[in-house]
Amino acid sequence: MKTPTLTLPGGTWTLGDATVSRFGYGAMQLTGPWVLGEPADRDAALAVLREAAAQGINHIDTAETYGPRVVNDLIREALHPYGEKLLIATKAGGRRDAEGGWPSARNSDELRQQIDDNLETLGVDVLDLVHLRLGDASGPVPERIGEAFQTLVDLQEQGVIRHLGVSNATAEQVREAQSIAPIVSVQNMYNLAIRQDDELIDQLAAEEVAYIPFFPLGGFPPLQSAALSSVAARQKSTPMAVALAWLLRRSPNILLIAGTSSAAHLRENITGAGLELSDADLEELNAISG
Ligand SMILES: NC(=O)c1ccc[n+]([C@@H]2O[C@H](COP(=O)([O-])OP(=O)(O)OC[C@H]3O[C@@H](n4cnc5c(N)ncnc54)[C@H](OP(=O)(O)O)[C@@H]3O)[C@@H](O)[C@H]2O)c1
Repeated sequence: MKTPTLTLPGGTWTLGDATVSRFGYGAMQLTGPWVLGEPADRDAALAVLREAAAQGINHIDTAETYGPRVVNDLIREALHPYGEKLLIATKAGGRRDAEGGWPSARNSDELRQQIDDNLETLGVDVLDLVHLRLGDASGPVPERIGEAFQTLVDLQEQGVIRHLGVSNATAEQVREAQSIAPIVSVQNMYNLAIRQDDELIDQLAAEEVAYIPFFPLGGFPPLQSAALSSVAARQKSTPMAVALAWLLRRSPNILLIAGTSSAAHLRENITGAGLELSDADLEELNAISG
């Protein structure tokens, strides 16, 4: 992969020992429907990953469960050998079942197997960043996570993981993880309309821990709101652009991993996220979550 040279909106963030573009890329959309199987157009999927790298994005979010293994295979095919500056963040803690569900899989043997699978499919000896995926498809579940997190800490001490984070976590689970070992990031659902983590984001910013919103554009289906459309119209822009620009403005520790299966949408999102929002825009947008 070439060394990134372009300037992306939002600048950079220090994630552990790495400097990453705050504008990253979430690769989950590169599969078939329901995050299962091969994409309809494999060359187009590879082109999105190469476009991300060419645009200077050096933070890509993935998981062995996307496909499963399909997205990690695409990343390896498109970008391996990875430049030193590329940070690939993956996850452990879940698996896919025969119906395409996402059951949790967090005992020590399951987690170790998932780390081995990620190492193999990504084609690396060390994973840059692993988020312990908690809760279930309906959201975070308040339960103790110490044993599972300790397994990842043990693997970090063995040298196969550089940095740790948690995902789909309650604030209490973030604190439980931090009582065991440092984390560099929290990856939770958050966007203009879903702002349950506002307080957590501010606390993490003070600790210089990244907050990485998943479904930044609303996921399935995308965000829809009259206020968002009205700000987009005033700015002669799009709701997607406004939603991304708002996240970059919301807090310096927010890193974007908006997903897309289209290189054209990726370019649009990069341009759009650089939008300057006025105080009036912000007031209107901040009222969306009610
Ligand atoms: N930790 C977790 O539990 C978890 C859960 C879910 C997701 N994630 C991560 O978070 C990332 C982001 O989430 P996401 O991809 O599900 O949702 P998202 O970023 O909120 O939205 C993606 C959707 O927006 C569309 N889109 C993007 N840019 C667009 C544009 N310019 N114009 C029109 N449509 C556009 C995409 O369609 P097109 O493909 O047509 O562009 C796709 O349907 C994922 O890729 C994944 O890496 C993590």
